[in-house]
This record gives sequence, structure tokens and C-alpha cells, in this order.
Amino acid sequence: MRRRTAVLISGRGSNLAALLAAAQDPNYPADILLVVSNVPGAGGLALAEAAGVPTVTIDHKPFHGDRAAHEAAIVEALDAAAIELVCLAGYLRKLTPLLVGRYAGRMLNIHPSLLPAFPGLHTHERALAAGVKRHGCTVHFVTEGLDEGPILAQATVPVLPGDTADTLAARVLAQEHVIYPRALALLASGQAGAPDKPLIQAATAP
Ligand code: GAR
Repeated sequence: MRRRTAVLISGRGSNLAALLAAAQDPNYPADILLVVSNVPGAGGLALAEAAGVPTVTIDHKPFHGDRAAHEAAIVEALDAAAIELVCLAGYLRKLTPLLVGRYAGRMLNIHPSLLPAFPGLHTHERALAAGVKRHGCTVHFVTEGLDEGPILAQATVPVLPGDTADTLAARVLAQEHVIYPRALALLASGQAGAPDKPLIQAATAP
């Protein structure tokens, strides 16, 4: 049985697109059955609709900062679709224990850095400022700490002379699209517990 999966987004949805493309294969162990956005009109919504996947927009603004109430509405939508696994894909809201607890061990996030380096925002700018030689992206289980959960997959890319945050972001993003579908496949097929070490490590040359 393919695992019933939802993807939460806030923006353009390129990682969502990568997950949808992987899930086109009937042998892929996760089926994406719902896309939830907290941002009305987020680009990813149109991608989901084009792929025939139901979408729901649950704008956080009418909740006036009541994060738990906003998440309760999300959980209601996930429950209505009998969702088992959740992927955060550019979902740019801090989570509360409500959603984290409900999907403990069943919710993944993708983050554009080699965690534990550069949690939080502006990862590419910070990597350049720090002068690192390699940068990358991480898929991890979601826990209460920001960008802290056990790591499932990482890919590294070189930082090249002349890189800007934009050129580096594009190089990292291409790898995000590779590792996220692979990480979800591991979780959905029961091959990922909460490992201490990444199960997937990819590196691009040099
Ligand atoms: C991706 O780079 C993702 O790693 C990042 O937002 C972007 C979303 O792009 N997520 C975070 O920074 C979470 N801390 P997408 O909408 O095209 O997938």
C-alpha cells in the first residue's frame, strides 16, 4: 500500500513538483493526496492542481497569531484525507507541539544547508559569509527544535569562486529535488526509523 502523504507549502513549490514527479511512478511508496498552503495563491498550488492533487489553503492571518488554532485547522484537513505522512516543502511557519507531536516520526522537512550548520533563514548568504567550501541541503525528521530533527538525507555541493547567494541557492536546489523524493521513499517504505546518521549522502563534483 502506498502511504497517504500530504505536502505543506508556502511558496513556489519546486520541491513539491519533485515529489509529485516521483509519485507518478505507481511503484513509488508514497502517494501525494493533499497539498496544504498557508499562503493564498502560492505558486505550488497551481502545480498541485495541474497534477490533479487536491489542495487546501489555510491562511494563517485570520488566526491572528494563534499558531495552535491554525495548526488545528491543518490537522483537521490532514485527518479528513486520512494522511499518514507529511512533507514540509518550503513551509515557512514555525510549528507548535500540536503538529509536531501528531506527526512525530512521520513528518519530514527539507532545509537548504548541511545541518547542523546554518539552521534558520538566509542559509546561502550565511554560508558565503562563513567562507565554507561545501554547502548543501538536508532532509530531516521534524522535531520541536528549529531544523534539529534526526537527519535522513544530505547532499553537498561545492561553493565556487564568484558564487552569489542566488547561484549557490540554485546549485543546492537542484540537489534538494534529488534527495527529497529519495528520503520520502525511505520513510514511506519503512526503511527510515530515526537514524543517527544520514541514510543517503550525495555529493556533486568536485
Ligand atoms: C527550498 O530551498 C527549501 O529548502 C527552503 O525553502 C525553499 C522552498 O522552495 N526551506 C526552508 O528554508 C525551510 N527552513 P520551493 O517552494 O521551490 O520548494
